[in-house]
Amino acid sequence: MGGRIPASFIDELVNRVDVVDLISSRVPLKKAGKDFQACCPFHDEKTPSFTVSPEKQFYHCFGCGAHGTAIGFLMEYDNLSFVEAVEELAVRERLEIPRESGGQSGPDYRPLYETLEQAADYYQQQLRRHPQAAKVVDYLRHRGLSGAIAADYGIGFAPPGWTNLLDRPNWGRKGTEHLKTCGMLSEHEDGRKYDRFRDRIMFPIRNRRGRVIGFGGRLLGDGKPKYLNSPETPLFHKGQELYGLYEALHSTRNPDRLLVVEGYMDVVALAQFEIRNTVATLGTATTRPHLDRLFRAAPEILFCFDGDRAGRAAAWKALETTLPVMRDGREACFLFLPDGEDPDTMVRKQGPQAFQRLMDEAVPLSTFLFDRLREQVDMQSLAGKARLSELAAPLLGTLPSGVLRQMMFKQLETIVGVEIPHPSRPIAASPAPKRRPRTGAFLGTMPPVRRAIALLVSNPGLAATESLPAGWETLPLPGIPILKELLENLHSEPNLTTVALLERWRHREEGKYLGQLTAFLLPLQQEGQLRELRDTLSSLARQALMNEWENLMQKAAAEGLSTEDKKRLLQLSEEKMKRDNQENDG
Ligand code: CTP
Ligand code: MN
Repeated sequence: MGGRIPASFIDELVNRVDVVDLISSRVPLKKAGKDFQACCPFHDEKTPSFTVSPEKQFYHCFGCGAHGTAIGFLMEYDNLSFVEAVEELAVRERLEIPRESGGQSGPDYRPLYETLEQAADYYQQQLRRHPQAAKVVDYLRHRGLSGAIAADYGIGFAPPGWTNLLDRPNWGRKGTEHLKTCGMLSEHEDGRKYDRFRDRIMFPIRNRRGRVIGFGGRLLGDGKPKYLNSPETPLFHKGQELYGLYEALHSTRNPDRLLVVEGYMDVVALAQFEIRNTVATLGTATTRPHLDRLFRAAPEILFCFDGDRAGRAAAWKALETTLPVMRDGREACFLFLPDGEDPDTMVRKQGPQAFQRLMDEAVPLSTFLFDRLREQVDMQSLAGKARLSELAAPLLGTLPSGVLRQMMFKQLETIVGVEIPHPSRPIAASPAPKRRPRTGAFLGTMPPVRRAIALLVSNPGLAATESLPAGWETLPLPGIPILKELLENLHSEPNLTTVALLERWRHREEGKYLGQLTAFLLPLQQEGQLRELRDTLSSLARQALMNEWENLMQKAAAEGLSTEDKKRLLQLSEEKMKRDNQENDG
């Protein structure tokens, strides 16, 4: 994409997103006074200390110290990078991410996206125009697909021949290079290039924004390999992408559940019967990145597998990958098809209602887990039950803390008939800091520089006040440079909110420190805060003055003062006297 994301866009984003909305789409929140609360998703706890402030647009856990903005929450909870979190929020708010031109960060993928778009257009055209198009359309019809669904999914045709795509007149040298980078070409040993996809039905694979990032191609007849996918490219990572996710979310923005199947044809066949919430992994097992994406899009995931041995083995693997992401509010179910069937054959034979019924009868993850384990042991013997508990405990141990985890350990106890210690979950990130006081009184116990910074971060509007006390800037204290910079920030951009300010500092070491201060400071009355800030700065200024005065006095005793020094000392004495008088008056 090239270029950095402009800071002003981040400002707009964090000011637009409602952090309460965002978090409650993933963690059930309860209203508690002005704020919202829940049991913390980032550590194990029974009473809620996770707090979301609509006023500050900030979340914070009094138990483990986790805190941050909407962007920070997505990074932590959904396991995203900064840029991914921004993209996620931008999609949510339907904003296009602008990029600063000439920025040095990240390669520019736009030409690659364009190349793939053109390839996809070309394949779609061939499905209408190529002399053999009729044969292909017949094949698709024969498999139950209408032109409308083919169009929805952008299905096309890569004609037979070695250089159809390569020889299109529009590429030029650059374009050919892009085709290669996108995985659309293969190379002979002597370096000559040729089309990777030949005589295949083409399924474009789109990313979340609907851009084509790769293809799957199916042979028309028999032959090997039946399916061919794009290789790994800068845009396409097979282990992360889900075929049909864009189309599914395009037809329903917030689906209740998503069905995960194996194949391209399964996705489009189900769509043909108006079951449009289906995605396919691309010939790989379900991975953690898949699950992160799926659960970001829907609270319930339904895995569909063949009923045969391979299908059941694949389902068990999916279960193992899913357990660690089963936070409260998420659901996973397993659906097994009769031997020899896949969703495509099933829905065409039995119709959408029957398929819908199958989906409704899918077994919950917990049932699947315990049923499978029961099959492996002799439930009539004590030893068998002990074995079951041995097998189950480490699996359940990978569940994140929450109600599901507690219930599944309970269920295991019921099955086995004895109590089982629930190992507590290690906390992913930093160890939990000590509980800190949550009252405004905490502010009073902070060293003054920190207090001033905390006040400014929590209430950036304070910086706009005319004539805040000055004179403290020379103090040789650790936080002074931050305080100065913060005030400069806020003077040049007086409308920054707390979260926008924190995002500005995200990429700097000091940013963490600002986040912590925001987290621990309760909002005071605006009036009180301003007075507090003035008093703090003014006492710092006095400290600076005293420092300088003492230094000069020492110098006078040791080596004598220059004319400059004497002038300065006089100034300082007057200043000091003025202050003493003011204090006596006040
Ligand atoms: N797959 C793949 N790469 C392969 C083989 C399979 O990506 N080399 C994926 C494709 O998504 C494919 C799915 O696995 O759609 C299922 O493959 P297969 O079992 O071979 O599909 P069939 O049901 O036999 O294929 P079809 O229904 O098209 O006849
Ligand atoms: Mn099939």
